[in-house]
Amino acid sequence: MTITHDKFSGGTAVITGAASGIGEGLARHAASIGMNVVLADIDMPRAEQLAAELSTAATEATAVQTDVSDPSSVEGLARAAYERFGSVRLLVNNAGIEASGLFWEVPIDRWQRLLSINVGGVLNGVHAFLPRMIASGEEAYVLNLSSIGGLSAGALQSPYLTSKHAVLALTETLYLDVKTVGAPIQVSAVLPGAVRTQIYSGASASGLAGEALREQLDRYLGQGLTPEQAAESIFAQLAKGAFWIGTQPEVLEAFAAYHADHLTKLTPPAPFVAVAK
Ligand SMILES: NC(=O)c1ccc[n+]([C@@H]2O[C@H](COP(=O)([O-])OP(=O)(O)OC[C@H]3O[C@@H](n4cnc5c(N)ncnc54)[C@H](O)[C@@H]3O)[C@@H](O)[C@H]2O)c1
Repeated sequence: MTITHDKFSGGTAVITGAASGIGEGLARHAASIGMNVVLADIDMPRAEQLAAELSTAATEATAVQTDVSDPSSVEGLARAAYERFGSVRLLVNNAGIEASGLFWEVPIDRWQRLLSINVGGVLNGVHAFLPRMIASGEEAYVLNLSSIGGLSAGALQSPYLTSKHAVLALTETLYLDVKTVGAPIQVSAVLPGAVRTQIYSGASASGLAGEALREQLDRYLGQGLTPEQAAESIFAQLAKGAFWIGTQPEVLEAFAAYHADHLTKLTPPAPFVAVAK
C-alpha cells in the first residue's frame, strides 16, 4: 500500500468503464490511496453514484458521461479532466463488452460495436490523452485492459478474443513509441484472469452454443477475485513498473507459457483447457 500511495497519491486517475466491475474496483482503490478520480462511463447514474461515494475532503471524484467508441466523446473526457484537475497521472482504458456465439452467427453490427469499444476505445483514449501527457512532461501511467484471452484462442468468443489480441498489439507498439520519444510515461497491459463482474451477465449471446458459453463463463467469473482484490493486485504491479500485469500473476504466467509453447511448436490453435475448470 505504501509504494502505490507514494507514487500516485495526489495525482488524478481517469478510468473508463468505471461504473462497474474492474473499473469500479480501480476507482475505489485509486481514491483510497489519495488520487482524484474521473469516472468515465456510458452508465451515468451508476458513475455519479460512485463519484458521490468516493468524494471526500481529501480527494475529488467526478463522473463524465463517455462513450469510448466515439473519438469526440473521449476528446471531451480529456478536456474535462485537464480543465478540472490540470494533469492526469493515470489513464486506464478499461471499458469493454463481451459477445459469444459462432463467428458467423454473431451479427455483424455486434462485431463492429464490440471492436469499436474494446479496441476503438483504447485507441481513442491514447489519441486524446497521450499528446497532453507528453506535453506536460510529467510522469504518467497508461493501463490498457486486455485479458488472458489475449494470449489464447477459444471457440465461440471470436469478437472478444480478437479484440483482446488487438489490445495487446496496440499496447506493445504504444510502449515502443513512447520509448522512441523518451516520454516519462509507463505503458502497461493488464491481462486479468477471472474477476467477479457483470461482463457476461450483460453480454449478448448468439445461438444455443453462444448462450451456453455465456452462462458457463458467468459461473466461472463467479469464482474469481473481487474487483477490489483485482485492483489491489494491479496497482501493486503497476507501482513496480511491470509491463505485463495479471490480476492473478500465476494465471498470467500459465497462459504466457501455453502461448509461447504453442507458437514455438507452430501447432494449430487449441484452447487453454485449464481455464474452463
Ligand atoms: N471480469 C473479468 O474476469 C475480466 C477478465 C479479463 C478481462 N476483462 C476486461 O476488463 C475490462 C472491464 O470488464 P468488467 O469485467 O469489469 O466488465 P463490467 O461489465 O463489469 O464493466 C464494464 C463497464 O464498462 C462500461 N461501458 C460499456 N461500454 C462502454 C462504452 N462504450 N463507453 C464507456 N463505458 C462503457 C459499462 O457501463 C460498465 O460500467 C474489460 O475490458 C474486460 O474485457 C475482464
